[in-house]
Amino acid sequence: MAFNEFYTLNDGSLLPKIGFGTYNEEFADNTDIVLKAIECGYRFFDTASLYETERSLGNALRTSGIERSEVIIETKLWIDEMGKDNVKKAFERSLNRLQTDYVDIYMIHWPRQTGADDEDWKGLDIETWQAMEELVDSGKVKRLGLSNFLPHHLENILDNCRIRPVVDQLELHPGYSQERAVQYCLDNDVVPMAWSPLGRGRENATIGNAILVKLANKYKKSIQQINIRFLLQKGILPIPKASSIEHMKDNMDVFDFTLSDDDVSMLSCMPQTAWLEEHPDFAIPERRSNPENI
Ligand SMILES: NC(=O)c1ccc[n+]([C@@H]2O[C@H](COP(=O)([O-])OP(=O)(O)OC[C@H]3O[C@@H](n4cnc5c(N)ncnc54)[C@H](OP(=O)(O)O)[C@@H]3O)[C@@H](O)[C@H]2O)c1
Repeated sequence: MAFNEFYTLNDGSLLPKIGFGTYNEEFADNTDIVLKAIECGYRFFDTASLYETERSLGNALRTSGIERSEVIIETKLWIDEMGKDNVKKAFERSLNRLQTDYVDIYMIHWPRQTGADDEDWKGLDIETWQAMEELVDSGKVKRLGLSNFLPHHLENILDNCRIRPVVDQLELHPGYSQERAVQYCLDNDVVPMAWSPLGRGRENATIGNAILVKLANKYKKSIQQINIRFLLQKGILPIPKASSIEHMKDNMDVFDFTLSDDDVSMLSCMPQTAWLEEHPDFAIPERRSNPENI
């Protein structure tokens, strides 16, 4: 099974409409999982310096024998890697772990280094972005992206950038659809990308949710497929993570049905559920660094 549906980015390049997430709460080796995902047809992989999955993603891509040009790798620099003096070193570490010589999309993971206390986040974001633009100039990064940037964070970049971000990755799923942030991305030709598109499998995003159960029965699809289809119909690019081939295939098999406008509206308006409670302006991420970076 291969993907043949793409979003067109603002630099004219194409991105598969569904990517594969590699965040691993156990911080264990993901190599076998990624190999299965490649076998299923996934070609676009999301990782981050923080996740400790860059190396296993690199191992899997090397072991699979797949051509580098056939896969898209996106990774992110973490909060302790922001600032003009840190970016190049952070990028080289990521490149080394990924065992490749370029990254397709390089992102800022989080807009505020120390949550609500970070008064100069605007300056730090711009400085970081400018250093990342130099990586694009060097040819080692193909394009740039953002993660967890709300409209006011994104506007700061758009007002000060030489190279525009192509994507912005946000927590998005039924029950946390962040309509204003998504619309701001779409209005500015930035593809909104959904992290935790399945609400990270929490019960209230799945079997415990009456609206999702009702729609799954109506369309004869799984609850996860309803989640993914909803995001696609909103112009969002989901990056579900799955461990089994069964789940991986389920998450790709979403191009043969369409949710009605009423059902999209119902999902857009459902009560908040399964939010991870990591607000970009207030949360101070618990995990401060990748231990390998020291
Ligand atoms: N930018 C950021 O700040 C940020 C934050 C969090 C995550 N992310 C990225 O987004 C990716 C996805 O988010 P996530 O991993 O948090 O959560 P998610 O993709 O919403 O949910 C993953 C969970 O759903 C289960 N699942 C997957 N497909 C399923 C199916 N078809 N049926 C039933 N259960 C299914 C998985 O179980 P199995 O593993 O057992 O299949 C796993 O427990 C991450 O891996 C990461 O790459 C980015």
